[in-house]
Amino acid sequence: MFFIAGFVTTTLALTHTLYELALNPEVQEKTRKVAQEMVNDYEEISYEALMDKKYAYMDMLLNETHRKYPALSYLDRACTVDYKIPGTNYVLRKGDRIIIPTYGHNFDENYFPNPEKYDPDRYLNRLNQDGLYFLPFGEGPRACIGERFASLNLKVALTNILTNFSVERLPDTPEKITINPKAFGIQPIERLNVLFKPIK
Ligand code: HEM
Repeated sequence: MFFIAGFVTTTLALTHTLYELALNPEVQEKTRKVAQEMVNDYEEISYEALMDKKYAYMDMLLNETHRKYPALSYLDRACTVDYKIPGTNYVLRKGDRIIIPTYGHNFDENYFPNPEKYDPDRYLNRLNQDGLYFLPFGEGPRACIGERFASLNLKVALTNILTNFSVERLPDTPEKITINPKAFGIQPIERLNVLFKPIK
């Protein structure tokens, strides 16, 4: 379970982030500036540095990846007791299966204007919200147990890559991905090739 839930999800999040950074050089430059500032301030990529809210742009960037490319396109739950949804006449019965369509929600204009745009700044005013406006790692007693570990891993990888390389699109880098209908979770059919160019 750890290997299936941990490796594929983290790898895909890093792949999709690097792909979007290649397509959006201005977002890449902003992220590199933040990463470089963090390394300069702390002189190492320590746990404290990665958790410092001064560099929250990296969290906003990862949020945007999780929104556009969620690990799972929906979450599901089985109801354990009868439950009336407050403010409605809906009653969920014990044993009912509930599908929470996270992918659809993540592309709903009402919550995420211009949803195709990869825009980490859309989280600027949301960092202090309760976090339930989208569910990249699920919520409640069966939420992802690897959320913090995965986020740390991703931030270490991105900081190392972006302070050493510029990530650029290649002639065969797709403009848009096609979701593989046979894959587990959200995975592209295309290869997301990008060029790593060392920066001096
Ligand atoms: C970017 C990386 C990751 C993403 C986006 C992700 C996302 C998710 C999501 C959406 C769920 C379902 C939660 C729910 O139904 O409420 C889940 C469950 C789970 N994840 Fe992750 N995950 C990631 C990394 C990891 C890592 C690194 C580990 C372990 C080291 C891990 C272990 C698990 C386990 C064991 C579950 C099942 C929990 C349960 O059913 O009680 N995940 N993850």
